Amino acid sequence: SRPRVYVTRPDVDASGLELLRKSCNVSTWKEALPVPREVLLREVAGCEAVYCALTDKIDAEVLDAAGSQLKCVSTISVGYEHIDVEECRKRGIRVGFTPDVLTDATAELTLALLLATNRRLFEASKQVYNGGWKSWAPMWMCGQGLKGSRPAEITYTTRTARPQEAAAVNGRHVDFDEMLRNSDFIVACCALTPETKEIFNAGAFKKMKPNCIFINTARGGVVDQKALHEALDSKRILAAGLDVTTPEPLPLDDPLLKLDNVVILPHIGSADIETRKEMSRITARNILAALAGGKMESEVTV
Ligand code: GLV
Ligand code: GLV
Repeated sequence: SRPRVYVTRPDVDASGLELLRKSCNVSTWKEALPVPREVLLREVAGCEAVYCALTDKIDAEVLDAAGSQLKCVSTISVGYEHIDVEECRKRGIRVGFTPDVLTDATAELTLALLLATNRRLFEASKQVYNGGWKSWAPMWMCGQGLKGSRPAEITYTTRTARPQEAAAVNGRHVDFDEMLRNSDFIVACCALTPETKEIFNAGAFKKMKPNCIFINTARGGVVDQKALHEALDSKRILAAGLDVTTPEPLPLDDPLLKLDNVVILPHIGSADIETRKEMSRITARNILAALAGGKMESEVTV
């Protein structure tokens, strides 16, 4: 009989679902907001695979609800902190994800956010609409240039140096502390793990240069958001550009939304059409490979 696959979103690109439908019985959640927990627990029962997104928490309770025939959890994201990978490993359930394919899209969004923050685009644009723009003025809405600063000179910090990748962009490996103290722009693009949780805390923001711009296209969880608010509000650092926050979406009364020196986007790092289509197909191909007992295109191995 055909394996059952549950898809937690109605709106992934159809090209991925078509691949699955050739050999599986596919059912999908039908509404725009994430599937409620009790529905997820009911729907995964009897499934061989779950096609999920970063809005779904896949933990032991979900795996229990699915049953022992579950072979694969495949997420349409590079991040997988929403999945209890250790629990999956113990049960022999394979975990798929979508790295690499979204790297360029996310890098482009990072650069857009960096430029938007640096040249105060959203703050300036607002003045056009609210009547704040009275006249061209020499020193009005000035930001800082990129010329001579460090994103032209790239330093990076990771647990292990990546000499090959670094050589491609002339990057120099530094420790976390040196990066904090010397950078004009700091971009967080690391995975959220126990080691990186709130790594950008009050102590970290204190070490940054006063002209530092902090960009986050990783996960909201790598930042102590209260400390970030304090650093921005007190002008301890110049500005921040955030594609990710805690929680998502931010409540409309969140104090971060009242600051002029922060640009916030709704987690759209990988949101270019071709990238999302390919992510949908990879998520499906990961499932098909796991069900066939073969090599998955991108498997989380820990
Ligand atoms: C997006 O944040 C992803 O993890 O793919
Ligand atoms: C700006 O528009 C200039 O002419 O300098």
